[in-house]
Amino acid sequence: MKVVKTSHLELVNLQKSYHPTAVLDRLNLQIHKGEFIAIVGKSGCGKSTLLRLLAGLEQPSGGEIRLEGKPLTGLNREACMMFQDGRLLPWKRVLDNVSLGLKGDHREEAEAVLRQVGLDHKKDEWPAKLSGGQKQRVALARALIHKPSLLLLDEPLGALDALTRIEMQSLIEEIWSFQRFTSLLVTHDVEEAVSLADRVVLLHEGKITQNIPIPLKRPRKRDQSTFASIVNFILEQILELPRAAQGRGLEEETGRPFHAVPSVRVSNVD
Ligand SMILES: Nc1ncnc2c1ncn2[C@@H]1O[C@H](COP(=O)(O)OP(=O)(O)O)[C@@H](O)[C@H]1O
Ligand SMILES: [Mg+2]
Repeated sequence: MKVVKTSHLELVNLQKSYHPTAVLDRLNLQIHKGEFIAIVGKSGCGKSTLLRLLAGLEQPSGGEIRLEGKPLTGLNREACMMFQDGRLLPWKRVLDNVSLGLKGDHREEAEAVLRQVGLDHKKDEWPAKLSGGQKQRVALARALIHKPSLLLLDEPLGALDALTRIEMQSLIEEIWSFQRFTSLLVTHDVEEAVSLADRVVLLHEGKITQNIPIPLKRPRKRDQSTFASIVNFILEQILELPRAAQGRGLEEETGRPFHAVPSVRVSNVD
């Protein structure tokens, strides 16, 4: 018997225009529950717009977003968003920032998620006393307390120094591999994308031009030649370097059978 697997999240001919500019042009993509997707592309190509649509903060101009097969209308209650700037309230202590917006007493849950991000010892601290990395840990804890099934990350590590960024990447991967929420990470850091994602989706001039599965074992090692080849391949695609324009594939790059897959897939399981 054939069973049709429903995607957790589906973009169907998704369009967004800010009159008269078309920002997203008929995007089609299927994302399965628990998948980690990275979205890369040049500045202004519509990455943040896509995340806002997925969060239900804005409405599509055409097409739709389906959550478990149902069209998303209004706010997406399954989603939590994390930004480059942690957006902590400076007049609230760390613990209260984490439980922000929740009614009732959520002290224990807030302490538990702070423990998860390794920051329980800072629960009574003011945000101003935290480093950039610590502020982003608080922002992550604030997302996790809602137990999201969809985590939307808009360049959350973009303002951090290289070492802190790598530490945070490991933390995000560890928590994701344990909790298995679906993740969409927008990043300009291609190494970060290849390090974390099951698939890297390339947005270019409002369209999905690549959808690249990353078949490397986790945790991924950046000094591996295959890792470097995939990063180079994606960079070439983003920058439209001549070799990418000649249609050289990832398979030639790495000597392994990698294929960018079409952005629309229907999975039938026997
Ligand atoms: N609220 C808005 N009104 C008008 N134009 C917008 C609005 N939000 C984004 N844009 C435009 O949409 C395009 C994509 O923006 P954005 O999604 O922020 O890009 P990215 O995150 O990839 O850098 C840009 O040209 C931007 O100026
Ligand atoms: Mg953006």
